[in-house]
Amino acid sequence: MRIDIVTALPGLVAGPLEHSILRRAAQKGLVDVRVHDLRDYTTDRHRQVDDYPFGGGAGMVLKPEPIFACIEAIQQEAEAAGAPVDEVIYLTPDGEVFDQEMANRLSLRRHLVLLAGHYKGVDQRVRDALITREVSIGDYVLSGGELPALVLVDAIVRLLPGVLGDATSALSDSFQDRLLDAPVYTRPAEFRGMTVPDVLRSGDHPRIEAWRDAERLKKTRERRPDLLSRP
Ligand code: ADE
Repeated sequence: MRIDIVTALPGLVAGPLEHSILRRAAQKGLVDVRVHDLRDYTTDRHRQVDDYPFGGGAGMVLKPEPIFACIEAIQQEAEAAGAPVDEVIYLTPDGEVFDQEMANRLSLRRHLVLLAGHYKGVDQRVRDALITREVSIGDYVLSGGELPALVLVDAIVRLLPGVLGDATSALSDSFQDRLLDAPVYTRPAEFRGMTVPDVLRSGDHPRIEAWRDAERLKKTRERRPDLLSRP
C-alpha cells in the first residue's frame, strides 16, 4: 500500500512514522508512506502556502496552487507507475466521522492521498475539484489535519496483512466485533496484593475464552451500550 501525506507542516508528521509498528511495516515493504511539504510546490520567492480569506475573518487559508501542483504530481506519477490514486482524503472536522469500519475499508485500497489542512482550512476549490472523501476523527477541533492524518495511517496500516505479528490480533481488537476488549494481565501473578484472575492461569482455554467473552460483554454494557444497539 502507498500513502502520501500532503502538509504545510511536514515536521509534525515525520516522527510517528519512524517508530514501532509503522516503522516496521515500512521496513518490511508492506506500506510506503511519503510526506510532501507544500512549500516545495510553491513558485513565489516567499514560498507562501497560505493567505488571508476573501471576505475577511480570522485565520489563514491554504492556497490552491501548491495543493493542486502537489496532488496532481502524485497522481501523474502514480498513474505512470500503474498504481493510480484510489482516494484523495481531506482531514477536516466537518467530514464523515472515522471509525473501525472506515479503517477496514480504506485498508483494502492500494493508494491513498491524505491532505492535512490548517486551522481555517483549505480553499474550497481544492475540496470541490480534488478531494474524493472528507474525514473527521471526532467532534473536536484540532489545530490542523496532521495528527488526524496520522490517526488514519496508524489505524489503516496495522490492518495490513503481515503488519501485526499475530495474524488474529487486529481482528480481536475492540470494535472489530463491536465489543470492547477484556482486561489483560502479565507477570507477576500477584502485585501489591492485587491478583490475576485464577481462570487466566488455569490453562483451560475454552474456559478462558468464555471468561473473556463475558468480560467484554460486561464492559461494553457498562461503558458503551450504544455499540450493542447499533444496526
Ligand atoms: N482538523 C481539525 N480538527 C480535525 C478533526 N477533528 N478531524 C479531522 N481533521 C481535523
